[in-house]
Amino acid sequence: MYLTSEEHAILAGKHGKATQKAMEILVALGTIYGAERMIPVTSVQIAGVSYDNLGEAGLHFLTEMAAGGGRTRVLTTLNPAGMDVENWKALDIDPAFAEQQKRVIEAFAHMGVVTTCTCTPYLSGNTPHYGEHIAWAESSAVCYANAVIGARTNREGGPSALAAALTGRTPAYGYHLEENRKPGIRIDVQAQVTGNDRLGALGKAIGTKLEGEAGRRKGEKPIAYVTGVVQASVESLKSFCASIATYGGAAMFHMQGITPEAAQWTPAQWAPPTDTLIITQADVDAAHRSMNDTISGEVDFVSLGCPHLSIREIARIAELLEGKQVTKEFWITTARPTKQMADMMGYTATIEASGAKFATDTCCVVAPVKGRFKALATDSAKACYYARAKNKFRTVLKPFDDVVAEALK
Ligand code: F3S
Repeated sequence: MYLTSEEHAILAGKHGKATQKAMEILVALGTIYGAERMIPVTSVQIAGVSYDNLGEAGLHFLTEMAAGGGRTRVLTTLNPAGMDVENWKALDIDPAFAEQQKRVIEAFAHMGVVTTCTCTPYLSGNTPHYGEHIAWAESSAVCYANAVIGARTNREGGPSALAAALTGRTPAYGYHLEENRKPGIRIDVQAQVTGNDRLGALGKAIGTKLEGEAGRRKGEKPIAYVTGVVQASVESLKSFCASIATYGGAAMFHMQGITPEAAQWTPAQWAPPTDTLIITQADVDAAHRSMNDTISGEVDFVSLGCPHLSIREIARIAELLEGKQVTKEFWITTARPTKQMADMMGYTATIEASGAKFATDTCCVVAPVKGRFKALATDSAKACYYARAKNKFRTVLKPFDDVVAEALK
């Protein structure tokens, strides 16, 4: 693998132990994937922030990197942590957990990371533009960046994202190379899909088909070129990205008339794939039904904000909760900068007066909530997956407004 003289110097330890270790990680990764060189990145998103996932070993790695002089070279933000950094007591977080979680965030802050703790960094100032090379972890954000924005990132893990932050580089392979971004299958959606829950169900239906295709193609999973979706908001696209990444392991897709990249290519550069799979209304309905394994009477936990809520969604929650009282634990999960906008607009006061709680910096999946609840109501297909797999909750998937109504029942 070709390295510049500066990259050789980093590898030799000229910029300290942590940066050296970071370059070692990237060279090892580049060697495994056959990268010919490193490329500069302009933005990093680090996952693996919740102490619930990191544990002592992860915290030890981070404190060593911070003590070893690691400093970010590019704009770097964090995925959700295991708690609301300011308001963790209101969420009944164990003080011992809170102590360790704070140490994790301090280690990142020491390295110059912007500690926003959100899975929608693109709504909070870490917003790359089309064609920009970045190194993001967090599967839903990776998919959003590649597909909706048209930036270029592989699906990084926590250590490789941190390594990119400390060196400002990533190995040039995978989705950084144009030839690996071409669609290999057309997915023709012959169904009406609007709203977060339906786009999430569509993501599950397509993701499941992509997994099947990978089986038929000896493990090679094609990038989907999705046709037939006529309209999608930022909010429903973040839901779709989270779902297709969760159920199909997809790091990117193209959506005709909605995502930008395929439209930029000339006919000489690509032709739409001829292999086609059809998604019917019945497929979407079946995917939706599969995420409902309980009745609303059993719901004892309600959460919106997977991925983290936009300010537009928070405004809608405030409108629906105005003058009412919730009867269940209801978490509103979002990024702190978005919460600050909600404070400014008076939405926070309205929402908190109803008894609903902001769970800023965290979410219903990465917070340590296992054993505290039995059944979750959400509009997120991704949250359904992890609520079951990680926390053993039953789930109810509903449209956004109906989830708010569930909290009021
Ligand atoms: Fe974000 Fe947590 Fe969902 S990290 S995508 S809100 S599982």
